[in-house]
Amino acid sequence: MKSLIFLLFALCKGFSSAERGYFWHLTDLHLDPNYTVTSDPKRVCPSAGDQLVTDAGKWGNYLCDSPLALINSSILAMRNIQPDPDFILWTGDDTPHVSDENLGEDAVLKIVEQLTKVIQEVFPTTKVYSALGNHDFHPKNQLPPQNNSIYTRIAQFWSPWLNNESIPSFQKGAFYREDIVNISAGRVIVLNTNLYYDSNRDTANLDDPGDQLKWLEDELTSASQQLKKVYLVGHVPPGYFEKKRGKPWFRENFNKRYVEIIQKHHNVIQGQFFGHHHTDSFRMFYSNSGNPISTMFIAPGVSPWKTTLPGVDNGANNPGIRLFEYDRNSLQVLDMVTYYLNLTFANNVAPRWEKEYRLTEAFQVSDGSAQSMNNVLKKIADDPCYLQKYYEYNSVSYDRNTCEDNCRVDHVCAIREVDFTKYDECLKTESSSSMILVQKTLISLLLSIYVFLF
Ligand SMILES: *[C@@H]1O[C@H](CO)[C@@H](O)[C@H](O)[C@H]1NC(C)=O
Ligand SMILES: *[C@@H]1O[C@H](CO)[C@@H](O)[C@H](O)[C@H]1NC(C)=O
Ligand SMILES: *[C@@H]1O[C@H](CO)[C@@H](O)[C@H](O)[C@H]1NC(C)=O
Ligand SMILES: *[C@@H]1O[C@H](CO)[C@@H](O)[C@H](O)[C@H]1NC(C)=O
Ligand SMILES: *[C@@H]1O[C@H](CO)[C@@H](O)[C@H](O)[C@H]1NC(C)=O
Ligand SMILES: *[C@@H]1O[C@H](CO)[C@@H](O)[C@H](O)[C@H]1NC(C)=O
Ligand SMILES: [Zn+2]
Ligand SMILES: [Zn+2]
Repeated sequence: MKSLIFLLFALCKGFSSAERGYFWHLTDLHLDPNYTVTSDPKRVCPSAGDQLVTDAGKWGNYLCDSPLALINSSILAMRNIQPDPDFILWTGDDTPHVSDENLGEDAVLKIVEQLTKVIQEVFPTTKVYSALGNHDFHPKNQLPPQNNSIYTRIAQFWSPWLNNESIPSFQKGAFYREDIVNISAGRVIVLNTNLYYDSNRDTANLDDPGDQLKWLEDELTSASQQLKKVYLVGHVPPGYFEKKRGKPWFRENFNKRYVEIIQKHHNVIQGQFFGHHHTDSFRMFYSNSGNPISTMFIAPGVSPWKTTLPGVDNGANNPGIRLFEYDRNSLQVLDMVTYYLNLTFANNVAPRWEKEYRLTEAFQVSDGSAQSMNNVLKKIADDPCYLQKYYEYNSVSYDRNTCEDNCRVDHVCAIREVDFTKYDECLKTESSSSMILVQKTLISLLLSIYVFLF
């Protein structure tokens, strides 16, 4: 009898209860080591370029990359909020937006080392899965598909985090795979998607730089055979930038391959975690029959730096950090909470990291599964209130203007369609559906005027 009860208990425990674990996602710190609080608007930060910075504060400025004080504050906030995560994902871009001539290999390495040390000091025993960003190289964006002195040095900085096999793998191509410590079903695959970035001249004519795509497929196949679940982690995401219509990052052939790999292996992939945008967004992946099969979560950055990408209007953000809640048994994403620093408030009053929103509360979904995230997308696409909420979170509550028709199309299509052709089709259908909406509103307005007058 006792053993029967035990068996029932074990079954219930095994099948019904999610064992909740936590992990942080930190990205795009972009330290500007020369950030200075001064009243000389030309001398505040090299990362503002020629722009004048008139209101420099201790915690940073929206025209500048991060002062060290801001980065320290973000990592200390992580420790205050959740000091004992199962692991931390850190998805790169450590150096400031300045020209290569003003940086150089030594400066890049020094900054990566410095930020590594800050994280190690604050989280000395926590495992960190770390990816390189397009700014973590000299010259920037030119990450090669083979070993070089920068990969070798950074593998040394990160050696306290990397296991034996990851070090040579990282040195070779800046990608690696590890079983998650103490999470028997879990595996992390850290990718070097900078190899697919269209600004990377080194990989322009290659089919599979560093053989990473083949390696990825082999890894996903063996994960499936070994009944493991996988998180994919990287910096530059596939698909389009939601703040600039028609702006992708990957070269088209790589984008296509990436989508195909997700479609083929989605059963083992429980989440994809990327940075680079300095925005809070996500990307949906669908099967050929249109079922939602995977989600890529794009985390906002710590650097508030207003992008100088032509065509983006007022593209700054408040500094953000993100905590995920997940099921340790299945790696299912259960929830995600984004915390942020209101930079204006920090400089005027005090640096206060506060909760911005919790996914399941803000969007009224049950978890972070692909099915739920597809429901989030539907709400954003169909309900102006959800669209506006999403839009404000997108810049970490920096830009609180109204997201109008074109804005809606840009965001909805970027989230829904990672594939280049389907994205273009989406722009057409969604634009005309916006037009239909406008026409309907106009007609009903005219009708009511007519009824009113006559
Ligand atoms: C940031 O943290 C590092 C490491 O703990 C420390 O050496 C440095 O003085 C701190 N700097 C600021 C500005 O807080
Ligand atoms: C910071 O200032 C030093 C000294 O003027 C200069 O050599 C260096 O290039 C600057 N670094 C950046 C990232 O602007
Ligand atoms: C790259 O690897 C090759 C083969 O192992 C080795 O001969 C070469 O020295 C390495 N280059 C660098 C820059 O580490
Ligand atoms: C990792 O390296 C340590 C020390 O060199 C060695 O004892 C251990 O067997 C290695 N583990 C694996 C999995 O290779
Ligand atoms: C893994 O679990 C063991 C035993 O509970 C614990 O001592 C160790 O600190 C854990 N390691 C990590 C990285 O959480
Ligand atoms: C940030 O702080 C400023 C200054 O206190 C305030 O005007 C603004 O509304 C705050 N933003 C948010 C999103 O709370
Ligand atoms: Zn960045
Ligand atoms: Zn980047």
